[in-house]
Amino acid sequence: MKIALFASGNGSNFAAMLAAIETGHLSAEIGLLVCDQPEAVVVERAKANNIETFVFKARQYKDKATFETKIIEQLQQHEIELVVLAGYMRLIGPTLLTAYEGKIINIHPSLLPAYAGKDAIERAYAAGEKEIGITIHYVDAGMDTGEPIAQFKVARTEGDTLESLEARLHQTEHVYYPQIVQQLIEKMEGTVKDK
Ligand code: GRF
Repeated sequence: MKIALFASGNGSNFAAMLAAIETGHLSAEIGLLVCDQPEAVVVERAKANNIETFVFKARQYKDKATFETKIIEQLQQHEIELVVLAGYMRLIGPTLLTAYEGKIINIHPSLLPAYAGKDAIERAYAAGEKEIGITIHYVDAGMDTGEPIAQFKVARTEGDTLESLEARLHQTEHVYYPQIVQQLIEKMEGTVKDK
């Protein structure tokens, strides 16, 4: 199945998806990277791996509906069946939500509904949470409000700094996001891969 990754920054989850594909743990092809930040590291990662990109600047379009229409054209051209958001720092609008209803997922670094929105890890750390985690969820019009698919907890230990906690959280994302994408693909294709 062809999937699209949407990202705005570093793209470590993008790299984790690629690695899972290369090692045979994810039976998908990244048909397109959509990125709204031309200078983002993730664009370099995609180019280095010969993955097609659609890179845009939102302010060059009249409004969200206009650039999302352009994105949909790209998704259709590349025969994308599942949209995987990984650090894409924009809300998805009704245009794209309608076109890919039930086929857009996101990962968020908190146990939603706690700490929705930006700087989730920093805020959870500052609040002294003993248990944080990640949520993979379907995307709706809200900010991190869509139906949860899976959550994984990460414990904060005595000596944890924000950096060490963050690193463990990202590792957790990199392990589980490709696994959940694989499960969704199997569900969508109506197959269960032999373990
Ligand atoms: C991840 O922590 C993800 O949960 C959040 O944005 C971050 C993206 O990191 N939505 P990266 O660009 O994949 O490294």
